Amino acid sequence: MEQQEVITLLSRREIEKMRQAGRLAAQLLDYLEPRVQPGISTLELNDAAEEWTQQHGAKSAPLGYPGAVDPFPKSICTSVNEVVCHGIPSADQILRDGDIMNIDVTPILGGFHGDTSRTFFVGDPSPLARKLVKVTEECMWLGIRAVKPGARIGDIGAAIQAYAEAEGFSVVRDFVGHGVHRIFHTAPQIPHYGTAGKGKKLRKGMVFTIEPMINVGSHEVEVLADGWTALTADRKLSAQFEHTIAVTEDGADVLTLAESKVPA
Ligand code: MF3
Ligand code: CO
Ligand code: CO
Repeated sequence: MEQQEVITLLSRREIEKMRQAGRLAAQLLDYLEPRVQPGISTLELNDAAEEWTQQHGAKSAPLGYPGAVDPFPKSICTSVNEVVCHGIPSADQILRDGDIMNIDVTPILGGFHGDTSRTFFVGDPSPLARKLVKVTEECMWLGIRAVKPGARIGDIGAAIQAYAEAEGFSVVRDFVGHGVHRIFHTAPQIPHYGTAGKGKKLRKGMVFTIEPMINVGSHEVEVLADGWTALTADRKLSAQFEHTIAVTEDGADVLTLAESKVPA
């Protein structure tokens, strides 16, 4: 993915616009969550998301987003079981009891992108699947808690990797978090693995995603000929959670929450 070098620092006004887009993104996931049931197709979820997004005055950033082979053809990413990320919704893909599925949404509201994802249970997944999902969400929060001015990008990945591997899982290398604001994917890149103390220093006003993809087996990923669908090389399960955050004076402000904190 093409990345600019310079990391934009957002003003307070711009961060509030990011929060509006981010809140809408979180509300969209809240809207979809009860619809994630055995028997529904991922295309039905996509179409519900597209309609909801339009009704709320926003645009779906994934729809038509350029890729290496073809533009992304749908409005959300639906990544089921061994699909690591960028799963394409399809009428042929019917959710089954025991599946896990990440839904990744990115509405554009007022020119800013709100990028967030969660992994949902379909019916009653296995204990291993449940553990993977729980550990992956905790990995995301450990990464977020590593954020503050003066900390380094490597601190985020180091915190995530240490916990994921201690739980017997692996961290995907081929996809990383990213700067996001008026541009969907820009500097900095945020690996979910790495070494504490390494990498660029975080500064107040940076806005980026933390979106670890954690695998039950090896971290290796394959991308299908469609240029998008990424799946685990060993076809074992993968999970992901994502928030968009802003670096504040003393930590991280999570912009993709459905209910935002009242500003002090
Ligand atoms: N929302 C994804 C991310 O977290 C990107 C999806 S690009 C798409 O970065 F084109 F597949 F939608
Ligand atoms: Co995303
Ligand atoms: Co993202």
